[in-house]
Amino acid sequence: MTHSVASRTVLLRHPVAVAGMALTTVSAVAFVVLLAAVLTGFDRNPYVGLLVFVLVPLLFVIGLVLIPVGMWLESKIVKLEGTSTRRWSIVDFSNPTAVRWSLLVLGLTALNLLLVTFAAGGAVHWMESPSFCGQTCHEPMEPQHIAWQSAAHSQIACTECHVGEGASALIQSKLAGMRQLYHVITRQVPRPVPGVANMRPAQETCGRCHWSGRDIGEVLRTRHDYADDEENSESVTNLQMMLGGPGRKTSATTAIHWHADPDVHIEFVSTDADRQTIPLVRLRDRNGAVKEFKVESATDEQIAKGSRRVMDCIDCHNTPAHRIAQTPEQAVDAAIAVGDINRSLPFVRREGVRLVQAEYPTKEQGLDEIARDLRTFYSTRTTVDATALAGAVTALQTIYRRNVFPSMKVTFGTYPDNIGHSTSAGCFRCHDGEHKAADGTRISDDCEYCHKQLD
Ligand code: HEC
Ligand code: HEC
Ligand code: HEC
Ligand code: HEC
Ligand code: HEC
Repeated sequence: MTHSVASRTVLLRHPVAVAGMALTTVSAVAFVVLLAAVLTGFDRNPYVGLLVFVLVPLLFVIGLVLIPVGMWLESKIVKLEGTSTRRWSIVDFSNPTAVRWSLLVLGLTALNLLLVTFAAGGAVHWMESPSFCGQTCHEPMEPQHIAWQSAAHSQIACTECHVGEGASALIQSKLAGMRQLYHVITRQVPRPVPGVANMRPAQETCGRCHWSGRDIGEVLRTRHDYADDEENSESVTNLQMMLGGPGRKTSATTAIHWHADPDVHIEFVSTDADRQTIPLVRLRDRNGAVKEFKVESATDEQIAKGSRRVMDCIDCHNTPAHRIAQTPEQAVDAAIAVGDINRSLPFVRREGVRLVQAEYPTKEQGLDEIARDLRTFYSTRTTVDATALAGAVTALQTIYRRNVFPSMKVTFGTYPDNIGHSTSAGCFRCHDGEHKAADGTRISDDCEYCHKQLD
């Protein structure tokens, strides 16, 4: 049996086919509106991809499927009855009641579209907030979300740094967001969550608030370290950091922020995902002179396989918004230095470090165990100040809560900090005296190049 075009069109009258057509039309409109919002940068949220690229197209496809299903159902009716008995009701515009009804339907449809758009807009706004990034995706992003709450940048939304500008960056981040959401739903999130491979140039993130031309001069950094003895003996290190600025040297005739000079171009090759191994550095200085520093033991093949990157702020400041302490010692020392842990408690540094770095099966058990164990340790000493002990318990629990995430396999030092050189290679990834140019010069590893130690 062959259908003429006209008879096929007739089959579209089945309510299921009509619903299908309505669904495709509405979702097509919604898709266009949302896509426009994405492309014009109205929305910068990665997870809106779920809406634009999954949910709406899904409705569209369901609509498309419903149309032939409806036609098929109608064709069965046609076959059964020999002819179609149902008829489209034709709107007679000379009839005022019909016109009123048509206007009502039209108005309601418009209202519907408006509601859908508003709902989508609201969802988008909600998804853009750090609470969505940190709490809805609760477990995977918990380490960064908790660290971010006490960072200098805690007022800056995750998306401000993590979602790029421009159409391609936006689409990319939507697709990445979808993949991540899929991983969350299917429980395939990598643990720990790996570093970000390709953040956009820092000029577009940091550069919106920080001016790279600023001359910071010399800045004093004081570090307090404590020993494992009964007195928790203190040692203090004062470092005069030679920060300077582009074209602004310090008293050491160098400037750390020279790297951030827009007229200085440093490109490097790294051979691991965390960019910790850097066999080649290519420098084009302010005068345009080019120099290549290479690690002698690195082969051409290793270098060819590595990934290239232009150095910017985040190659040193890689934990500006969610720094997890590098070592338990650093975290405990910092708490003693500010008085959160009372230094008068005998051996508190040694015990504190032991307790926050011990492995516990879950976070809750860790928190309980830290409190119980510390109280047990001091229970034999009658002279211990109860307030100081309670304060130490709270401070150690805070350190543990902020830095250790057993279920995400994140702990002290999981994410290397590139700003110094004591806990991971940091500056010494290049300034190790091994990176040599053809003329025999090396990237400096002179201690006084970057800081002066004051007494
Ligand atoms: C001030 C900018 C900034 C803000 C705000 C920010 N981040 Fe980051 N984030 C970074 C930088 C820089 C990196 C490191 C990129 C690199 O190493 O190439 C990073 C890395 C990450 C990583 C990879 C693992 C790691 O810790 O290195 C995750 C996950 C992450 N951020 C999540 C978040 C979440 C969630 C928020 C909000 C609660 C957030 N970020 C807010 C700048 C930021
Ligand atoms: C939306 C504006 C904004 C953006 C974007 C931003 N910052 Fe900041 N940053 C600030 C403000 C404001 C402060 C001072 C905060 C304070 O002192 O409490 C600050 C402080 C800092 C500090 C000193 C405090 C510290 O944590 O050591 C560093 C370093 C820094 N920013 C680096 C960066 C880097 C690197 C980026 C890019 C990844 C960046 N910032 C992006 C606004 C911003
Ligand atoms: C070569 C590594 C390096 C690069 C690249 C770099 N910085 Fe820094 N920056 C440092 C170091 C080291 C410090 C001192 C940190 C410390 O001792 O706590 C610092 C300190 C800062 C501070 C705090 C200054 C203060 O008054 O305490 C800000 C803000 C800052 N950097 C922003 C930036 C921005 C924005 C960029 C990119 C335009 C950038 N930095 C590029 C290494 C770098
Ligand atoms: C990707 C490689 C690389 C990294 C990482 C790096 N540097 Fe450099 N740095 C260079 C090169 C190349 C030079 C130029 C050669 C030289 O002066 O030894 C340089 C020069 C310097 C200078 C002298 C600049 C001037 O005024 O002439 C200072 C100071 C410095 N770096 C500090 C740091 C500090 C601090 C860090 C870590 C926070 C760091 N660098 C990380 C590559 C790097
Ligand atoms: C390329 C620059 C650079 C060079 C070279 C360098 N340092 Fe540092 N150093 C840093 C930076 C950056 C920090 C981090 C300061 C901070 O934590 O705020 C640091 C921190 C330190 C600290 C305090 C941090 C800690 O964990 O104890 C000491 C001590 C120190 N350096 C000693 C040295 C000595 C000794 C040398 C020579 C072998 C040296 N540095 C060479 C950049 C450098």
